[in-house]
Amino acid sequence: MCGIVGYVGKNQAAPILLDGLSKLEYRGYDSAGIAIRDGEKEAEVVKAKGKLINLYEKTNNGNDVKGHCGIGHTRWATHGEPSEINAHPHVSDDMNVVAVHNGIIENYQELKDKLIRKGYELYSETDTEILTKLVDYYYKKYKVGPIDAIAKTMVRVRGTYALAVMFKDYPDEIYVARKDSPLILGVADSDCFLASDVPAILKYTRNVYYIDNLEMARMHDGKIDIYNLDGDIVPKDTTEITWDAEAAEKGGYEHFMMKEIHEQPKIIADTFNSVYKDGKINLSEVGLTDEEMEKIKKIEIVACGSAYHVGMVAQYVIEDLCRVPVRVELASEFRYRKPLLTDEDFVIAISQSGETEDTKKAVVEAKELGANTLAIVNVVGSSIAREADNVFYTLAGPEISVATTKAYSAQLIAIYAIAVELGRVKGLIDDAMYKHYIEEIQALPDKIEKIIENKERIQWIANKFAYSKDVFFIGRGLDYAICLEGSLKMKEISYIHSEAYAAGELKHGPIALIDDGILVISCLTQEGLYEKTTSNMTEVKARGAVLLAVTTYGHYNIEDNVNYVTYIPKADEHFMASLAVVPLQLMGYYLSVARGIDVDKPKNLAKSVTVE
Ligand code: G6P
Repeated sequence: MCGIVGYVGKNQAAPILLDGLSKLEYRGYDSAGIAIRDGEKEAEVVKAKGKLINLYEKTNNGNDVKGHCGIGHTRWATHGEPSEINAHPHVSDDMNVVAVHNGIIENYQELKDKLIRKGYELYSETDTEILTKLVDYYYKKYKVGPIDAIAKTMVRVRGTYALAVMFKDYPDEIYVARKDSPLILGVADSDCFLASDVPAILKYTRNVYYIDNLEMARMHDGKIDIYNLDGDIVPKDTTEITWDAEAAEKGGYEHFMMKEIHEQPKIIADTFNSVYKDGKINLSEVGLTDEEMEKIKKIEIVACGSAYHVGMVAQYVIEDLCRVPVRVELASEFRYRKPLLTDEDFVIAISQSGETEDTKKAVVEAKELGANTLAIVNVVGSSIAREADNVFYTLAGPEISVATTKAYSAQLIAIYAIAVELGRVKGLIDDAMYKHYIEEIQALPDKIEKIIENKERIQWIANKFAYSKDVFFIGRGLDYAICLEGSLKMKEISYIHSEAYAAGELKHGPIALIDDGILVISCLTQEGLYEKTTSNMTEVKARGAVLLAVTTYGHYNIEDNVNYVTYIPKADEHFMASLAVVPLQLMGYYLSVARGIDVDKPKNLAKSVTVE
């Protein structure tokens, strides 16, 4: 998704903006641009198609563009193809208004017609050019100043936006507006920053303002004034970001994904410890007191991508430990099927970014129907965190690689904590089992460490299959949920077609696709399903498949039936997803590296999907 940055202060703006944009590269983009004001002079706009390096080269690392005030953008095309002309910043005809925008303007056509009627000429195919010119139109028509001109534009525009604007008459000032797209504002001494996400400004400041929906701000002289739609100042305090700046850097690893895989033991421990006090899980801070949990009769989970796969794991774990029905639904589907929720229902939304549009809208819908909503979110202050009734923050820190690993693992821990606590409250987990489950969760980090230590084994297997065209993942029960995530990891970063199937479903279709040499990866972590899954493996082996099994130490006789095995430590079966997913993450990673793909920034994908 698009990323925006802005800076006004005592330093040269362009290098700061380029640095900020480089921290947003993970969001996915196809072109980039900056606009810089040097005092009273007209803004200088530089854009480049393709990678950010092209913009670095065009500007001599930013050094050739002088000025202390500027805005920048990485574009992920929605309206109009990726091209230099469609890249942001966009400008009004006389350079009166210069803007960058993340989001989508829905009534774009209607506004375009209006502007053309008013004599505006359009040079690009973007909705942002329309937005820029509409601000210019109201600014000139009403002669009201930047805040009022932006407010009038906001009233006319339907859609989503994080918008940063510079006006010719106001050098050394940046104006912003937000609705439903991520935006944070930072201050440090005499400097002001804006960005779509924390890593872009973390090097410069930890003091940020969270600007709410339908608010605007003026940034100048190291100060940020926030306004509501009426143009009144909204008093706000800064929040301190506690993320470690180094956590947003590669720290010696070749890719963020590998770094984030290695961080899993720590972030799992951190996330669990955030709700573990005096030998007990305490969820009162996330709104789950014993009294609240007693009321829970069924749970609806909404999420997208890997977070949805966490929901699939949750379904097995919570239903088994708490005997409460759980339904998991893709957030994009949930919204459009007229959900049957009431104020008796409990909805859990899972999201790393807290900005996924479909998940956010699902939360809004659930709240409108009266349901109690809990968000499991990683990014503090994100839209979903603010929308839901309560938030369980995963402490995964900034996740940069587009393919999630550590955030997925942290979300699983949040689910385990909820499941164990709910099971206790429902009277299904006695003291001894409660202690057992807690100890098993606490033991996961060391076990993951051990799996990561053996990563060369996975690398060796991955190199053998680097040129596979199709891969299948099979498993039953919880193992099926793990396979879904393993398959997603593989396809998103190695571009190998892969599918995950419940092993019992093979014979209803996919077995027709099995041919000589096709890799079938199976997960076997659930004792009660072990033999059933091995029978399904034999069926595909008989049709020429090459088998790789992920199972626990001790199942050594599996070597008689499969071509490759990767062993993982045993844990309580409810928590096996946390272990079995690690070799699958590594498999996806090494396949991607072997195929020469940009691991952290796979094509067409974005980290934070803020469009429907
Ligand atoms: C994108 C990311 C996935 C992520 C999904 C949901 O597709 O590439 O890694 O699982 O969005 O994102 P969220 O931020 O809501 O967890």
